[in-house]
Amino acid sequence: MSETRAIKDYIRTIPDFPIPGVQFRDVTTLFSDPTGFRQAVDALANPFTEDRLTTVAAMDARGFILGGAVAYKLGLPFVPIRKKGKLPGGTIAEAYSLEYGEAIVEIHHDAFDPGARVLLVDDLLATGGTAVAGVKLIERLGGHIVAAAFVVNLPDLGGSARLRELGVEVLTLCD
Ligand code: PRP
Ligand code: ADE
Repeated sequence: MSETRAIKDYIRTIPDFPIPGVQFRDVTTLFSDPTGFRQAVDALANPFTEDRLTTVAAMDARGFILGGAVAYKLGLPFVPIRKKGKLPGGTIAEAYSLEYGEAIVEIHHDAFDPGARVLLVDDLLATGGTAVAGVKLIERLGGHIVAAAFVVNLPDLGGSARLRELGVEVLTLCD
C-alpha cells in the first residue's frame, strides 16, 4: 500500500523570498504532485455541497490553480479576482497590503448576480490583506461569502483571526 503524505509535506519553505525575512511557502511542489494536488483540491471542495454555494471565486494567481479545480469539481461557475489591469470588462477595485508589499485587485462588476453564495479560494492566508480585499469586492457586488478556503494558514500573521472577526468561515488545510 502506498504511504499517505500530509498536505504540509508537499510544500517546501524557501527563506528570504521575495524579500529578506519572509519564509516563503512554495506550493509549486504540491501542484506538481498529482496525488498531493488532488488531495488538496478534494479537501477544499468536499466540505461544500453544491446547494450551499452558487459560485467559486479565487485570487490571482496561485488561487486560480486551486479555485478552477474546485469549481470544476463542484460543477459551479468560476470567478477570477485579478491583479489590476488584467480584466477586460468593467471592474471594481480594492487596494490592500500583504506580507511583502501592496497591490490592487479587481473583479468584473457583472461577475455574478446579487445574492450569490460564494466560496473564496486561495493557496495561502498570511496577513489576510489579499483575502479581505476579495471579501470586500464580493460583498460590494451583493454576494454573500459562505466561506474562505486555503491550503496554508500562517496564523501568526493574523489573517485567519481577521477573517473570522469579519464573520467569515475559514477552512485551512495546514499551518
Ligand atoms: C500570495 C498568496 C496570497 C497572498 C497571501 O499572493 O497567493 O494571495 O499572498 O498574503 P496575505 O494574506 O498577506 O495577503 P501574491 O500576491 O504573492 O500573488 P501570486 O499568487 O500572484 O504569487
Ligand atoms: N504570501 C504571503 N506570505 C507568503 C508566504 N510566506 N509564502 C508564500 N506566499 C505568501
